[in-house]
Amino acid sequence: MKTENKIIILDFGSQYTQLIARRIRDLEVYCEVWPYNTPLEKIKTTPMKGIILSGGPASVYAEDAFLIDSELLQLDLPILGICYGMQLISHLSGGKVQRAAKQEFGFSELVIDDHHDLFANVPVKSQVWMSHADHIEVMPKDFVQIAHSANSISAIRHTTKKIYGLQFHSEVTHTLIGEQLLKNFVFKICQCEADWKISEFITMSTREIKTKVGSHNVVLALSGGVDSSVCAVLLHQAIGQQLTCIFVDTGLLRQDSGWHDLQKFQKQFGLSILKIDAKERFLTALKGVTNPEQKRKIIGNLFIEIFNEEAQKIKNVKWLGQGTIYPDVIESVSVKGPSATIKSHHNVGGLPKDLPFQLIEPLRELFKDEVRKTGEALGIDHQFVYKHPFPGPGLAVRIIGEITSEKVTLLQAADQIFIDELYNFDLYDQVAQAFVVLLPVQSVGVMGDVRTYGYTAVIRSVDTTDFMTANWSRLPFELLDKVSSRIVSEVRGINRVTYDITSKPPGTIEWE
Ligand code: XMP
Repeated sequence: MKTENKIIILDFGSQYTQLIARRIRDLEVYCEVWPYNTPLEKIKTTPMKGIILSGGPASVYAEDAFLIDSELLQLDLPILGICYGMQLISHLSGGKVQRAAKQEFGFSELVIDDHHDLFANVPVKSQVWMSHADHIEVMPKDFVQIAHSANSISAIRHTTKKIYGLQFHSEVTHTLIGEQLLKNFVFKICQCEADWKISEFITMSTREIKTKVGSHNVVLALSGGVDSSVCAVLLHQAIGQQLTCIFVDTGLLRQDSGWHDLQKFQKQFGLSILKIDAKERFLTALKGVTNPEQKRKIIGNLFIEIFNEEAQKIKNVKWLGQGTIYPDVIESVSVKGPSATIKSHHNVGGLPKDLPFQLIEPLRELFKDEVRKTGEALGIDHQFVYKHPFPGPGLAVRIIGEITSEKVTLLQAADQIFIDELYNFDLYDQVAQAFVVLLPVQSVGVMGDVRTYGYTAVIRSVDTTDFMTANWSRLPFELLDKVSSRIVSEVRGINRVTYDITSKPPGTIEWE
């Protein structure tokens, strides 16, 4: 975003880096996360109001530590180092950082020594969240201590420059004074204005899209999910009929596939959407396939093939619209490299980079909740923008073993019952993702006087904010009972329902 009124966060690999960005954006100040090794020249030439150095897993004195050019500290810019960031400032300024005799993990009592600026309007004593093994042993030159705990120097300030360090994590909600500290840094010290508003974003990005697209056409793969839908409506607001959306019905979507909502968008916004019925092609391609990775590959490739076929039919297309969002962007420039975690397979269902179009990604600066707010501001229903994520390969990875049209129908029916009941119990918005999995396991049951031999459905519901870790949801027994009875009595072919109580890790959210 081209604004001077922004904060740059240099990422040293902390699990909390994105959280810092979220907190700053919550203060209505725009911020971006850059890798720690961003060239100094880029920092010098980019207008900004201040820099935050994030935490990180390493020790500043380790051989392979992530270091920065100490000239950064000579720039006339406010800087706040958090945890590793503070240790780095100390290390580069003549202080000594070493392993602490008493490490601090969890809550510690913070005592403030100087309420002057960073700690303005916070109580003298409060609980803060610590997570560090190293600490400042010898204070860096020209710095003073402005807060402490029983075991560490917890905050420092340069005597003449606007350079600050916090040993604890101000960005986590456990640190109750955290928001006030970030406010003090951002508004008092960096002199930012609170001007990051969704309405502003929409106005600016509409203008940018118009200029960028010119007289060419844009094509977009609409999945029925939140990101691609908001992206489509935003693009449409900017360029109207120059946008064509392609909705590929793989036959592996939920019963409520989103098509119903997309039809509403056609009416409400005048969005032009081509619906391609490709159920048979997908089922045929998946016949006899049981291996999850093979399923993903087949679906991914066929999706691209079909999308390409359709996109080629549209004239004058130069641009491919995509609903990429900021966490994907951060992930792709992460200092940790492309994430080595289980998430790497998730781009299946996306489009390859070598399509003959240029990318236009108007949401690439937004976090998920900002995408939702944008959607609502554009007039999309609340219920739609708050729906749970759905994986690219769809129900194919929720039908364990071979996929048949009969199994898809069974799963769709069971899944819909679960989702409906979550809404009935007013719990849909309380859980992060909920769905049903169909197992190829058949067991004996009894219905009335008749013996049955049917499939097993697994109910899965998780609570998470980042989807990297998740807890199984503690759903009320009444809900589980209702869902189980309804599935067994209404979905002929399923006669047993189980509830998955595995968290992630060690499990994953999906079963395949
Ligand atoms: P796991 O199962 O890895 O899932 O714990 C974490 C999140 O990612 C979604 N997911 C996918 N999304 N393509 C996607 O677009 C995929 O192949 C895929 N696999 C899992 C999953 O639904 C959850 O939200």
